[in-house]
Amino acid sequence: MTRQNFARLAASAGLAALLAGCSTDAPLASTGAPAAAPAEAASASPEELLARMSLERKVAQIIQPDIGSITPEDVRRYRFGTILNGGNSGPYGDDKGPASDWLKLADEFWEASTAPLPGDEPVIPALWATDAVHGHANVIGATVFPHNIALGATGDADLIRRIGAATAIEIEVTGIDWTFAPTIAVARDDRWGRTYESYSEDPKLVSRLGAAMVEGLQGRPDEPGFLGAGKVAATAKHFFGDGGTAQGVDQGDVNGDLAELMAIHAAPYPAAIGAGVASVMASFNSINGAKMHGNAPLLTGELRGNLGFEGLVVGDWNGHGQVKGCTNGDCPQALLAGLDVYMVPENWKELHASLLRQVKDGTIPMSRLDEAVLRVLRLKQQLGIFDGEVKPSARPYGGKWELLGSAEHRAVAREAVAKSQVLLKNHGVLPLKPGARIEVAGSAADNIPQQAGGWSVTWQGGGDLTAEHFPGATSIYAGIAAAAREAGGEAVLAKGGEAAGKPDVAIVVFGEEPYAEFVGDRKDLAFRDEEGLNLLKAYRAKGVPTVAVFLSGRPLWVNRELNAADAFVAAWLPGSEGAGVADVLFGARPATGRLSFSWPAHCEGTPVNGPEGALFARGYGLDLDQAGGPGVLDETCNALTADHGAAWFASGRLGNTVQAVADNAVLPDLRGVGNGITATGIDRKAQEDARRIAFAPGAKLALTGPESSAGWRITYQVTERPKAAVTVSADGTALDITQRLAVAAGKGWREMVLTSDCLGKVGDKLAFASKGKFAIEISEIARDERAAETECSF
Ligand code: BGC
Ligand code: BGC
Repeated sequence: MTRQNFARLAASAGLAALLAGCSTDAPLASTGAPAAAPAEAASASPEELLARMSLERKVAQIIQPDIGSITPEDVRRYRFGTILNGGNSGPYGDDKGPASDWLKLADEFWEASTAPLPGDEPVIPALWATDAVHGHANVIGATVFPHNIALGATGDADLIRRIGAATAIEIEVTGIDWTFAPTIAVARDDRWGRTYESYSEDPKLVSRLGAAMVEGLQGRPDEPGFLGAGKVAATAKHFFGDGGTAQGVDQGDVNGDLAELMAIHAAPYPAAIGAGVASVMASFNSINGAKMHGNAPLLTGELRGNLGFEGLVVGDWNGHGQVKGCTNGDCPQALLAGLDVYMVPENWKELHASLLRQVKDGTIPMSRLDEAVLRVLRLKQQLGIFDGEVKPSARPYGGKWELLGSAEHRAVAREAVAKSQVLLKNHGVLPLKPGARIEVAGSAADNIPQQAGGWSVTWQGGGDLTAEHFPGATSIYAGIAAAAREAGGEAVLAKGGEAAGKPDVAIVVFGEEPYAEFVGDRKDLAFRDEEGLNLLKAYRAKGVPTVAVFLSGRPLWVNRELNAADAFVAAWLPGSEGAGVADVLFGARPATGRLSFSWPAHCEGTPVNGPEGALFARGYGLDLDQAGGPGVLDETCNALTADHGAAWFASGRLGNTVQAVADNAVLPDLRGVGNGITATGIDRKAQEDARRIAFAPGAKLALTGPESSAGWRITYQVTERPKAAVTVSADGTALDITQRLAVAAGKGWREMVLTSDCLGKVGDKLAFASKGKFAIEISEIARDERAAETECSF
């Protein structure tokens, strides 16, 4: 180290000591001795570093807060070992911020975590982890690869290795070190909202593809460059049972004989561990009633003991808080059960204090803490972040913006899209004929957020995202239009099927709206939205042959659409490179995609793995030159006709046909900002299962849904007392509820029942209007027949 450098470090060390001295909550050890230079850490072994760490900083190594809840100053003070960005967090509070902001913030965190420390304490840079689950898709401009279910249909391990390698480079461009991927869940009930994160219902296929993804992201342990430049730490998640919960309920309970459960749901772990996966994430679910985050026999006994995993076990988002007797800020049970790092987005301060106390009073043996800290330090050493002590932007790939969403990476994504298309039916329409005049219809045809799905820029994806949030991406329609031109024909966009004339063929693109995690849980497998169905029927009525392109995160019951279409392609969630769909439709590439999940014959919510109940078995898929598909299918589905109007808002989601509107701004899933309404996700019993709705003076919020004479039951609490009149109305008179809300203010959760008794005529609409500022939190809005007779109450 040069003399000047030393002087600079010493000066800033003095500043750090001073800061520590005046702050009340700084968990800093004693001061006095000269500054330890960061470069020292490079040569020391993790054990040597550990020996010189204060208890406070050891504890901080195993705490992982979210970037939305910490500042660089917090990092400087506490020296967290790792940090994460959740799906809704982005740099400087903006999850849609420019890519350069990610790197800028990474530098800031790095600098904060490597500021010199007083005494002999080693300086340990913090690691940043992100959910790059289908490319580095949190970041604007990244290549968005198809979701895992699509990759499962390619069955192509080499391709998946290349996707991992491209993703790792894009992550490093933005200064991040670690991804929470791959998900190696074996989804066994397609009602689960995370089915698309699973490669297959077949554990063998998941093992093979999961290991390939790990190798792509990290490199191979026996080859040079493992976890080196252009490689990031991977995470096999979620250990274990995530795909096996009863009824496919996210974070639910998995029941059965342990050995049998392991044989399915833990089966992909040996391959990932063999591939050298750096970390494993504990699962939210419980096994036979016991939450994984507190499950020593499984987290330590099985994972460490039987499976021999030596890397780091990271918790899931407040998963420790779900263990019996725990809260987000207090849970020695998880560390004792075998967790190494707590993912504790917000309650990190409390958790730091409680862990510190528990190590001091012997609740947690020092040896267990040391072991966890050592795992964090070893990962850092493996990643080489001590070497040379370079900030993220100065690393080989840092800031190489030409690599983010590069043509080369996009070509890999396009190849993956093409290889994942599964042709379920073809009555002589495909491949499309050169020179064909094509109409492309359906609201998903030119809709990049929808083709990207969940975990794209935002956690849930979709919503207020537009093509602008995916610069460089190609929609399915754009891909078709280019291919048609090249083939001497023409494709026009006719979203509603309204274009004049009679095309040679119509392609109807339709499917699921984006979702992530529990928000995507369903009670049955019926695909309800009839837009695509109606378009297919309309074209057929005009005598136009049709191709259905179905976007979905899982197999769904689409018997009606299969009947109505001449060709049907399962396109999954292709991501940013929609042109890969056209590659197959026009025969530029063969149709090699094969189902990695069986496809349901019925809409009722029975598990569809295995041949019983399957319309198409796993492995099914037609070649382009092969005519085939099912005959006329039964279209009965009781779930379709049952009353789905009951829940207007529950578990963080609006009902299937329910809409929330602030004046004319649609709030997808009752979230967003518009016309004086600010609706944000809050946690009541689960993440983002409720909303905080703030009204500016004059703001209005209307909900519309299925017509019914039932009343509404609303679970709510008033967090900001109304400043002026608040009214509620159905179709009739506006009822002034200001007084009742004022009384409820600050009193916690309660129920409001609104019926024709106080609203007059009730039908398909409920509207709130506030003349002044006011805020209410809502966790459920239900239509309830029994309430129809009752009096209104608050
Ligand atoms: C997601 C996060 C997200 C959060 C919202 C978590 O389950 O994984 O990325 O931001 O919930 O509460
Ligand atoms: C998800 C994880 C994810 C984490 C961080 C959790 O809710 O279950 O898969 O890695 O959030 O976003």
